[in-house]
Amino acid sequence: MKIAVLNGSPKGEISITVQYIKFIQKKFPQHELKLINVAHDIIKLEKDDARFHEVIDEVRKSDGVIWAFPLYIFLVCSQYKRFIEMITGKGAQDAFAGKYATVLSTSVHFFDNTAHNYMHGICDDLDMKYVEPFSADMDDIMIDNMRRILLKWADNFFQAIENKAPTLKFFAPVVHNKFNYEPGKGAGKVDTGGLKIRVLADITDGKSNLAKMVQHFSESFKGDIQVVRAGDVKMRGGCLGCMECAFDNICVYQGKDDFVDYFNAGRDADVTIFAGEIVDRFFSARMKMFWDRSFFNGHIPTSVDKQVGFILSGPLSQVANLQEIINALPQIGGGNLAGVVTDECADSAQIDKLLEAFAAKCIDNARSIYMLPRTFLGVGGHKIFRDQIWARLSFPFTADYRYYEEHGLFDFPQQDARYLEYGKQMTEMIKDPKMKEMVRKMLKTEILKGYAKMVETK
Ligand SMILES: Cc1cc2nc3c(=O)[nH]c(=O)nc-3n(C[C@H](O)[C@H](O)[C@H](O)COP(=O)(O)O)c2cc1C
Repeated sequence: MKIAVLNGSPKGEISITVQYIKFIQKKFPQHELKLINVAHDIIKLEKDDARFHEVIDEVRKSDGVIWAFPLYIFLVCSQYKRFIEMITGKGAQDAFAGKYATVLSTSVHFFDNTAHNYMHGICDDLDMKYVEPFSADMDDIMIDNMRRILLKWADNFFQAIENKAPTLKFFAPVVHNKFNYEPGKGAGKVDTGGLKIRVLADITDGKSNLAKMVQHFSESFKGDIQVVRAGDVKMRGGCLGCMECAFDNICVYQGKDDFVDYFNAGRDADVTIFAGEIVDRFFSARMKMFWDRSFFNGHIPTSVDKQVGFILSGPLSQVANLQEIINALPQIGGGNLAGVVTDECADSAQIDKLLEAFAAKCIDNARSIYMLPRTFLGVGGHKIFRDQIWARLSFPFTADYRYYEEHGLFDFPQQDARYLEYGKQMTEMIKDPKMKEMVRKMLKTEILKGYAKMVETK
């Protein structure tokens, strides 16, 4: 069988993910795994139509497709996303339709679920037959049992193709409405009070709903806010995954394009708004490049006690995975989700009101340092980063390690003396069967005491 492996690592063949593919190839010599470096070669594929169609022909000739990629910030890297956008943009969907597909990702499992959901959605959009994916921890290949499972997984995929296994679609197509937003005049009432509001706006058409939404949002304020158009920030390319930034947070592109200056100029923003259109099942590849490139800052949170919001043109209610990312992104950065406004209601007056209320909320939240409790996304995300930076990523991510140490982010439960001591004492106490029965009956009321005391005294 011939399998097209679309490599989503910007590092090309010097990639951890590719080692997984090479291992599978070694163990299944009867199949040909044709590796195509689409993320690494994206600039050439964009410029050279013939080259892009050579890739598509490889897909067309194949019996199945493996989307093999490293996870980059909730998703695939911007270069890979660009390739996915080009499939539809250049009308090459037919090469994928009806083909069996699967996903092999490597990561540290930080939001691998959202990346996998995204790719499954893309495969459903392309009318592919999606077979269960493999989300490898980047070091799984070192573990005997995981290598065994990896090979079984690969074999399952080959067999699914051979046996024409039935598959199920999970994601309904995303349907955009054709509504044209006609904003009223902005009220200009919201006083920024000297707070800095910065909007990164992925506007490509000045007449688009997005452009008009950003305009109306800006006009809701009394003072000026800063709107940066994504296209005005010159970037030579996406994150290369080289990790040369890991020691001192210095990007290899620094001084060679605008990104680091753009990023640094936003560090003191009290409110950051990301404004974009839904392109397939996420923002555009260009917006993704902004998030990927900010990785030069490693795992250091960048919106601590700050507000983050989103203005989106497109049917967000249909893309639950993007909703999850939007919820998670501010929390991971140490910030608070100030809100989201979309044009989905298809009612201009209502969108005006939503944008005006959003502007007011951004300021009110920022003024009162209103930080809602983090959910599982933020709490769990922090624990994964903390554990990784403590041990496995402590090298090469030495800048992260310093930051985590200096800011008390190594908050392991082993350091929680109060609960540890209490747990030990109580466990000792219930060794006595009589005490055990007594304590069992008292649990509900005793546990409540501390909480009730707060209600009484505070
Ligand atoms: C820019 C960048 C972003 C990353 N984002 C994530 C992430 O969000 N979650 C995660 O688990 N790993 C993340 N990683 C780690 C990579 O997914 C992981 O190291 C992967 O195995 C690299 O594979 P490759 O060598 O094939 O490129 C990121 C790495 C880079 C360079």
